[in-house]
Amino acid sequence: MEHLAIIMDGNGRWAKAHNKLRIDGHRAGAEALDRVMHYCREAGIKYLTVYAFSTENWKRSKAEVTGLMSLLSRYIRSKKDELIANSVRFRAVGRLADLSAKIRKEIAGLEEATKDGEFTLAVALSYGGRAEIVDAANAWRRADPDGELTEEAFRAYLYAPDIPDPDLIIRTSGELRTSNFLLWESAYSEYYFTDVFWPDFGKEEFDKAMMAYAKRERRMGGRLK
Ligand code: FPP
Repeated sequence: MEHLAIIMDGNGRWAKAHNKLRIDGHRAGAEALDRVMHYCREAGIKYLTVYAFSTENWKRSKAEVTGLMSLLSRYIRSKKDELIANSVRFRAVGRLADLSAKIRKEIAGLEEATKDGEFTLAVALSYGGRAEIVDAANAWRRADPDGELTEEAFRAYLYAPDIPDPDLIIRTSGELRTSNFLLWESAYSEYYFTDVFWPDFGKEEFDKAMMAYAKRERRMGGRLK
């Protein structure tokens, strides 16, 4: 598997179950992300995309949005040396113009500092699959108003056209929806759902997901001979 994508769901319910604040759940979620990135690298995966903040998440309480943004900002500022030492390339995908100028600057700095990394961590921020398709359509229209639109030509206008489509998408915490995540890119992705809350996602769960994926027969719409 080359590319794993994850909908990191259940931070709030994890916090509630432990009598903690929602932001504590997100903090524990960020720690789970560090663990899972390590498992990915051990498994030879090259790209990990995680859904950290959706276009819909702006509707959450001001306290939660602010808390998530400061968690993100702290993550970006504190992880630089570790990411470089581990050859991780950081990317942000989404409507980044919605983020504050301060965070945009921090993101650009981290992307530049880690650009030679061999493993890619793509963090979806103010991301929506429909927004991505609309943004790509507008960008295409501006760049090539008379051109013929093909799937390949369209792809070049997505947020990260150089990242291959995800092979597997994991969603934690028992929800069975895609919630606007990687709509275009997930056309042939496999899905794996688990009841475990994201902060509790560990090696055992990771191995279970890898095993389930290994058993699937991927035809990509064609027939196996
Ligand atoms: C969904 O759980 C999770 C989020 C909306 C935020 C995900 C963010 C992180 C895991 C940490 C930040 C990441 C980085 C890169 C620092 P939920 O709040 O919807 O949980 P609930 O459905 O149980 O309420």
